[in-house]
Amino acid sequence: MKVFVVVSIVIMMAVLIGCAVTPAKQTKAGSDVVTDELRCEYRVNPLGIDVAKPRLSWIIKSQQRGQAQTAYQILVADCPKKLEQDKGNLWDSGKVKGNQTNQVEYKGKALQSQIKCWWKLRVWDKGGKASGWSEPAYWTMGLLEKNEWKAQWIGFDEPLKSAAVSEVGYIKRFKTSLAEPRYLRKTFAVGKEVGSATVYASALGLYELHINGQRVGNDYFTPGWTDYNKRIYYNTYDVTKLVKPGDNAIAAILADGWYAGYLGWDLKRDNYGDKTRFAAQLYINYTDGTRELICTDGTWKASTGPLLEADIYMGESYDARKEIVGWDLAGFDDSRWRGVDARADVNASIQAYPGVNVREFTLIKPVKVTEPKEGVFVFDMGQNFAGIVRLKVTGKSGDKIVLRFAERLNEDGTVYMTNIRSARATDTYICKGEGEEVWQPRFTFHGFQYVEVTGLAGKATVDTITGLGLSSDTAVAGSFECSDETANKLYANIVRTQRANFIDIPTDCPQRDERLGWTGDAQVFVRTATYNTDVAAFFTKWLVDLEDAQSPEGAFPDVAPRKVALGNGTAAWGDAGTVCPWTIYQVYGDKRLLEKHYDAMVRWVEYLRKHSNNLIRPMQGYGDWLSINAETRKDVLATAYFAYSTKLTARAAETLGKKGDGEKYNQLFEQIKQRFNEKFVAEDGKIVSDTQTVYVLALAFDLLAEGKRENAIERLVENIKSRDQHLSTGFIGTKDLMMTLTKNGRTDVAYKLFHNDSFPSWGFSIKQGATSIWERWDGWTPEKGFQDANMNSFAHYSFGAVAEWMFKTIGGIDTDGAGYRRIIIRPQPGGKLEWAKASYKSINGTIATQWKMDGDTLKLNVTIPANTTATVYVPTSDPKSVLESGKAVPAGKVEGIEHLKAEDGFAVFSVVSGKYEFESKVMVQK
Ligand code: BGC
Repeated sequence: MKVFVVVSIVIMMAVLIGCAVTPAKQTKAGSDVVTDELRCEYRVNPLGIDVAKPRLSWIIKSQQRGQAQTAYQILVADCPKKLEQDKGNLWDSGKVKGNQTNQVEYKGKALQSQIKCWWKLRVWDKGGKASGWSEPAYWTMGLLEKNEWKAQWIGFDEPLKSAAVSEVGYIKRFKTSLAEPRYLRKTFAVGKEVGSATVYASALGLYELHINGQRVGNDYFTPGWTDYNKRIYYNTYDVTKLVKPGDNAIAAILADGWYAGYLGWDLKRDNYGDKTRFAAQLYINYTDGTRELICTDGTWKASTGPLLEADIYMGESYDARKEIVGWDLAGFDDSRWRGVDARADVNASIQAYPGVNVREFTLIKPVKVTEPKEGVFVFDMGQNFAGIVRLKVTGKSGDKIVLRFAERLNEDGTVYMTNIRSARATDTYICKGEGEEVWQPRFTFHGFQYVEVTGLAGKATVDTITGLGLSSDTAVAGSFECSDETANKLYANIVRTQRANFIDIPTDCPQRDERLGWTGDAQVFVRTATYNTDVAAFFTKWLVDLEDAQSPEGAFPDVAPRKVALGNGTAAWGDAGTVCPWTIYQVYGDKRLLEKHYDAMVRWVEYLRKHSNNLIRPMQGYGDWLSINAETRKDVLATAYFAYSTKLTARAAETLGKKGDGEKYNQLFEQIKQRFNEKFVAEDGKIVSDTQTVYVLALAFDLLAEGKRENAIERLVENIKSRDQHLSTGFIGTKDLMMTLTKNGRTDVAYKLFHNDSFPSWGFSIKQGATSIWERWDGWTPEKGFQDANMNSFAHYSFGAVAEWMFKTIGGIDTDGAGYRRIIIRPQPGGKLEWAKASYKSINGTIATQWKMDGDTLKLNVTIPANTTATVYVPTSDPKSVLESGKAVPAGKVEGIEHLKAEDGFAVFSVVSGKYEFESKVMVQK
C-alpha cells in the first residue's frame, strides 16, 4: 500500500533555492526618517493570506518636528536575494507620491497560491530626501483556488460517554455526555533535502497539530469559531524546522470545541454537527525543486488516548496512566489503531484564517492558598481572567486531582460556582505516579479568579498551579495612568475583561454557559477596545461572522456566529452591523472593510424601515439592558438606534462615494428624527421614559432640534443630580453617557460619576475588590450579597466602555476624521485628578499625552507621530499664557505650532508631528 500521496511538481525553483534570509539592516540615507512596523493585512509577517491584493502598512519615525512622507516606493520579490539587490520582480511600485502609509494595496503581478512575498520600502521625507530601505518583511499566500484543498476530513464516530454528574452551577445536578477526543496520526518518509515545509490545517471541532512529537505553533482553539456550515478557516504554519530526513510523523488531537461541544444554556451539544473532523495538508518543497504533499486521507490511523473529555464549558479530563508513549513520533507501532472515516462531504467555503489567534498572553502566579475544608485547597489568582491552569503534582498512580474554577468565593472561603450555571468548569487529572507530573488542558478555558483543587497527596503550595491567561493575541495599543488609584484599577479591569472576552470572537463573558458573540456587547465596547489593543484583524474576522449571520431579510443577529441564541433584528444589538464596521473604518481608515460590509449595512437599515410603523420601531428587544432603577421604553431606544444606524450608513455611503445612497439615508435620518420628536419628545423637551438613557441617546445621535438640546442636557444633569450624582444607565445608555456629558460641556458631571465609589458606579465594584468589569452594577452588594445567580457574571466588558471617555477626555486623544492622519488632542483635567498620562499606538504611530497640575500652572506634554498633524486644545483660563518648551514667545510663534483660536477654556493650536511641552495658566477650582 502506498503510504503517502506523492505529488512531484517542479515549481518555481527560484523561490526555494539560494534564498537564504539575511536580514538586511536599514540602509543609510539622506533622510533621518526610519520606517518601521511593516505589516500585511494588519499582521507582522503573516502566513497564508488569501486576499488577492493584500494591503501593506508601515509607520515612519523621525526625531524632527514636522517630518512627513511625501512619497514611497515598495518592492516585492519572490526571493530575499532579489530584494537585497533592490529588485521587486513581483512589484516595484516606483515612486508613488503622497503620505499614505497604510491600506496600501498591492498592485503587482497576480499572486499565486503559496508564494512567499518578500518586501521592503523606502520613503521620501518632506524635504524630498529618501530614507534608507527598510528591513525586509514577508507574507505568504494561502490556497487561493478551491480545488487546491486536497485534504480529506478525517475522524471516527462512536457513542458519547456519559460524564460524572456535575455538582456545580445554578442547575446543580446534571449529567453531560462527552466525546473522547480523537488521536490521529500518520508516518511519511522524507528522502531528500527539505527546502521548506508548510502545513495548512483545519477542523470541524478544535485541533492540536503535532509533527515529530512537537506541537505546531502556539495557538489555542484553532481553527476558530465560524458558522461551520458556511465557512471554515484553515491555519497556516511554517514547519520547515520540524520535518526531518527519514521517517516523520504528523499527528493531531481533535476535540469538540464550538462545533460539537456544549453551547448555550440549554445543555445542548452538537450544535453544528456531531461528527468532529480534522483536515490538513503538508507541502514539502525539496531543494531539488520537487515537492510532495501529505494529506489527511483514509490512510491515517486513529485512537482515543489519555484525554477522556474536552469541552469548552465543561472542562477537560486527562488520565495520564493512559498516555501513549510516542504516539506522535515516527516508528510508533500504530498497527492496533483503528482506521479513519474520510468520507465527510464538506461543502462550506474553506478559507485562510483572517483573525488573531488565541495564545497565552500572561502567566499568573497564585497570590494565596487556603484550605477552607480539609483537603480542599483554594487558590486565589489575584485577578479574574480567562484561561487555564498548569498543574504540577506528585502523586500515586490513579490519584485523581480535581480542579474547579470560580470567579468568587462563598463566605466560608469555598468556591462560588452557582453563577456559572451549567458550565461544569472542572478539569480532572489522574496521575500516572512517576514523580513530578505537569499537565495543562488544551481545549477548554475558564473565567476565574479562584481555583479549587482536591485530591492532592499532600498540601498545596503556590507552585501547585500556574495560571495561563488566554486571549486573542491582539497587540497592546493603549496605556493609561493617572493620579487616582481607583481609576488606574478601573483601567486595568477593563483591559483584563477585554482580554478575557476576546477569544477568537468578542464574547459576553468567559465563565458561564454562554460565551457567545453577543452583538450588543460588541458594539457598545468596540471603540474602547480599539484604544486598548489593535483589534483591526480581530474585527475583520468577526465582521464576517456577523454578516454570515445576517438573515436573508437583513436582520443582524443577537449573537454571531449565530447559534443557540437565535434572536434577530434587536435594537442596539443588531446595530453592531453598522456601528462596528464604521468604528473600524474610523480608527484604521479601512475603507475596504467598510465597502465589504456596506451592502449588509443597507440591508439592515431597510429591514428596520420595513419593520417599523411609520418609522417608529416596535417595543421589542432588550432595551437598555441591566440599567439600574430606570426603565427606558424599548420603542424610544429602538427608534433612536434606527436613526443612528441610518446616519452611519449615510456616512459610509458618502465615504465610499455612493452619493445617491448618501442623500437617501441622510434624508431617511431626518425623517426618523422628525418622527422621533413627534412621537417621543414633548413640548417642554421631556422625552418619553425620562431616563438618563433617552437624553443620552437623543443627544449622542443628534436627534433633537437646536432648542431642545440644551433642555435635554439639563434634564440629563438634573436626573443624575436627583440620584445624588449617580448613573442609572444600562449597557446601552452607559456607552454614550460620559462622552455626551463632555461634548455638551458637562465634563464636571462626568468626573463626578467617574469618581463615585458608592452604588451604582464603577468605583463601587472596585471598592468591593473587583479585578474585572461586572455584568451588573449590583453584582454583589454588602446588603444583598450576590445578585441572582441566574445571570451574574463578573467579567462582562460592556460597562467598561467608559475607557473611550478616559482616553478622549482625560488623555485627550482622538482621531479627527478616519484613521488618525489628523489627530485631536483635547485633555480636560478635572475631578480630583492631579496628573494623567495616556498613550495610543495608532495605525500611524504612537500618540502620547501627559499632563500635570502644578499650582495654577498646567504642564502638558504631547507626542504626535511623524506624518500626522494635530489640533491641540491646551486647557487654560488665559490663552495668551500658553508657552511651549519654555520659549520666551507665545506658543503660537514656536516652530511647528500655529495658533488657531481660543475656545471654551482652551487655546487651540495646529501642530505638526513631534514632541511638545506646553505650559499654561489655569484657574484653580477650590
Ligand atoms: C448576555 C449579554 C447579552 C444579553 C442580551 C445576556 O445573557 O450575557 O451580555 O447582551 O444576554 O440581553
